[in-house]
Amino acid sequence: MSSASRDLAPPSGDDRFVVRGGARLTGHVTVPGAKNSVLKLMAASLLAAPGRTVLDNVPAIADVPVMAGILEGLGATVELADGTCAVAWDGEPDWHAPPGAVRRIRASVTTLGPLIARVGRARLALPGGDRIGARSIGMHLEGLEAMGATVEESGDDVEVAADRLRGADITLDFPSVGATENLMMAAVLADGATTIDNAAREPEVQDLARMLVAMGARIEGIGEPTLRVEGVDELEPVTWRTCPDRIEAGTWAVAAAVTGGDVRIEPVRPADLRMPLIKLRATGVDVTEDGAGLRVRGGPLESTDVVTLPYPGFPTDMQAQMMVLLSQARGTSMCTENVFESRFSFVDELTRLGAEIEIDGHHAIIRGPRRLKGATVRALDVRAGAAGVIAGLVAEGTTTVRDVHHIDRGYGRFVERLRALGADIERRTAVGERR
Ligand code: EPU
Repeated sequence: MSSASRDLAPPSGDDRFVVRGGARLTGHVTVPGAKNSVLKLMAASLLAAPGRTVLDNVPAIADVPVMAGILEGLGATVELADGTCAVAWDGEPDWHAPPGAVRRIRASVTTLGPLIARVGRARLALPGGDRIGARSIGMHLEGLEAMGATVEESGDDVEVAADRLRGADITLDFPSVGATENLMMAAVLADGATTIDNAAREPEVQDLARMLVAMGARIEGIGEPTLRVEGVDELEPVTWRTCPDRIEAGTWAVAAAVTGGDVRIEPVRPADLRMPLIKLRATGVDVTEDGAGLRVRGGPLESTDVVTLPYPGFPTDMQAQMMVLLSQARGTSMCTENVFESRFSFVDELTRLGAEIEIDGHHAIIRGPRRLKGATVRALDVRAGAAGVIAGLVAEGTTTVRDVHHIDRGYGRFVERLRALGADIERRTAVGERR
């Protein structure tokens, strides 16, 4: 076991992946716990009475030690081992999270609700993460204000305080994942009942809600658009298994399909991926499901239209990967992005490889199939980075993907696992040494 802060390596900013295209992916790949769940489960440990919260099925991604560093900065002892994360609190958490780590990941904002609920006060630097839009936290703050908190913004910091939160009826403007999680975590220790209407229903939000229930919270409507929370006085630390990463599974499915491969992906809960699987099948991909996973076989691809929406709609986190697939499909496809306003920046990278994509506001029109040719592309965010790698798998010649620290944030041991499926890919550090 190691202390989390020792694992807090600086981002591997200059590393790059070098992919030689043409290989069909075949074999079996194991999907770890979800990035967008585990980081919130770690934050939820703040709500528990002193003791040890243990998470398993923890993915080997760079964001986990960053979140661990934030919790250590608040006074926790965190132990990260292969696939587990133990967070121990022996007293009240501190209220001022370390700004450097907070700015590195967007999920840091989900410490806000638990801190106010548990210690009555929180100061947070405005959080970072992918640059994929304005990503304000207005809904988080308005919801906390409705529960009786005061909010002060000064420069890059926000300070929120409440002696005791009280239940409230909150209607979100948009089913924001982070706002739903923050307000649900605030509500579990508030006085009285809270309803959150137009709540996010993503499987990761449901995973967090179920862990809170296991800790003793009273939450109804999990997976529905209205959450009802009845505050309790105290929550207990628990052991919890992180749900599988549906976005990682979907990424492998696209990589298998677009290379004409044959890959078994597990564990997968097919219901979590209902819309992506509908869309993959619409393009002609052969997807078979069994209880534990998926088998994905590629073949000739046909165009289809994709519209990103909050769950159960098509996930914005699979839009870039799907766009690569559609660039190889026969006919004209349209991809509409409704969740983030700047999530098409990856298109420039893909067109540099030879894809034909035209942007019109929040619509992308993709004409295919176009033969891709290797070039250098940047990983602009975690998913765009994965899409760049997938494009490299089908491109002729060599594709270099730069700024792979973005990919490391969401995909553990990506290169090794791609190689195990037959991909010709390697990681090069800034000095050219191979890993
Ligand atoms: N929004 C606001 N105000 C708010 C909150 C959100 O305007 O107070 C807007 C955002 O700017 C965005 C939209 O609402 O346009 C949706 O944002 P949401 O709050 O749902 O997203 P998030 O919680 O910031 C999480 C995931 C993202 C994923 C989105 C949508 C984590 C750490 N991140 O972000 O994951 O795209 O939900 O499903 O859970 C990724 O993994 O690649 C990733 C970016």
